[in-house]
Amino acid sequence: SVLAVEVEQIQKGNYDHYMQKEIHEQPESLTTTMRGRLIHGGSKVKGVLLGGLKDHLRTIRRSRRILFIGCGTSYHAGLATRALVEELSGVPVTMELASDLLDRRGPVYREDTAIFVSQSGETADTLEALEYAKSCGALCVGVTNTVGSAIARGTHCGVHINAGCEIGVASTKAYTSQIAAMTMMALALGEDTISSCSRREAIIDDLINLPDKVREVLKLDNDMKELAKELMEEQSLLVFGRGYNYATALEGALKVKEVALMHSEGILAGEMKHGPLALVDENLPIIVVATRDATCSKQQSVIQQLQARKGRLIVMCTKGDANLMCPNGSYRFIEVPQLQDCLQPIINIVPFQLLAYHLTVLRGFNVDQPRNLAKSVTIS
Ligand code: G6P
Repeated sequence: SVLAVEVEQIQKGNYDHYMQKEIHEQPESLTTTMRGRLIHGGSKVKGVLLGGLKDHLRTIRRSRRILFIGCGTSYHAGLATRALVEELSGVPVTMELASDLLDRRGPVYREDTAIFVSQSGETADTLEALEYAKSCGALCVGVTNTVGSAIARGTHCGVHINAGCEIGVASTKAYTSQIAAMTMMALALGEDTISSCSRREAIIDDLINLPDKVREVLKLDNDMKELAKELMEEQSLLVFGRGYNYATALEGALKVKEVALMHSEGILAGEMKHGPLALVDENLPIIVVATRDATCSKQQSVIQQLQARKGRLIVMCTKGDANLMCPNGSYRFIEVPQLQDCLQPIINIVPFQLLAYHLTVLRGFNVDQPRNLAKSVTIS
């Protein structure tokens, strides 16, 4: 009806699509995710406060293993925070796609903590995996965006990410808020460890800087539109990442394939020589995520090897590092602001979201409701 169309236009504000609006509102959604949860400033010791988790932190720290369980983008958010949770809690984290855990009936124990990540809180496979882990006696934690959802209700405790309602089928602001919320969870788990105190303080300082840095990276909108114009006729796009940004590679590729309907693959750069290198030629576009962190010298050598095979490279690096990371130049650079290594995935995904958005518009596909996909997959 005319009314429904008008209501939709009001909800979209000045934007053409929900996905576009949700990409651009990330400085605000991240602020909401962190609101009231960071202790900083004054004479207080820096820390985090997660009301829904505080009574269970001891149990989680003592568990033998943490499992991150989810589907799609929510799985990627777990992957992005895996290393930090391991670093600060000392507990090994294993990654589980919900459907695969169910297919295997993989062993889950009473001494395990199972963390269920889901924007909607209603995804059938994730919900079924929750029932399974509960029946095995594990402590079950929810990380959801939907108060009152099945996963929020069914878990023993949890964290709401408070990103606000997300309408675009392709998840954008929920992903960055999931990473922010799970980063705070990692900080809470590490709070009884004195040796990591300065590390935790540095991360808290950068959480406070995060909305401004996201505002800064959103200024790449036009550059990403230009890049989209250059790539719009391509068949395929590869994305190489490693470390914290392996998740960026998988999630960046997922955005491109699910909305722009262009084949795209996220690849762990450490696996390059074990197959993907055979694909490299002058034509196939490849984005290499090589922002500053402990793995970036390895990414430097990946870039050299791709250049030696005349790869058509697009290099994502820290602002000012273009010549350092890629002295022989590249097809294009995407220079992004720097944060603590563990928060960099939040910054780095934004240009991919923008690229996927512009590719979709240019290729003439439905941005908010991609072909064959649903926002919430409630049947398995
Ligand atoms: C669907 C959506 C994705 C989402 C996935 C998991 O496939 O289209 O955007 O990442 O489900 O959904 P959840 O609500 O559990 O995060």
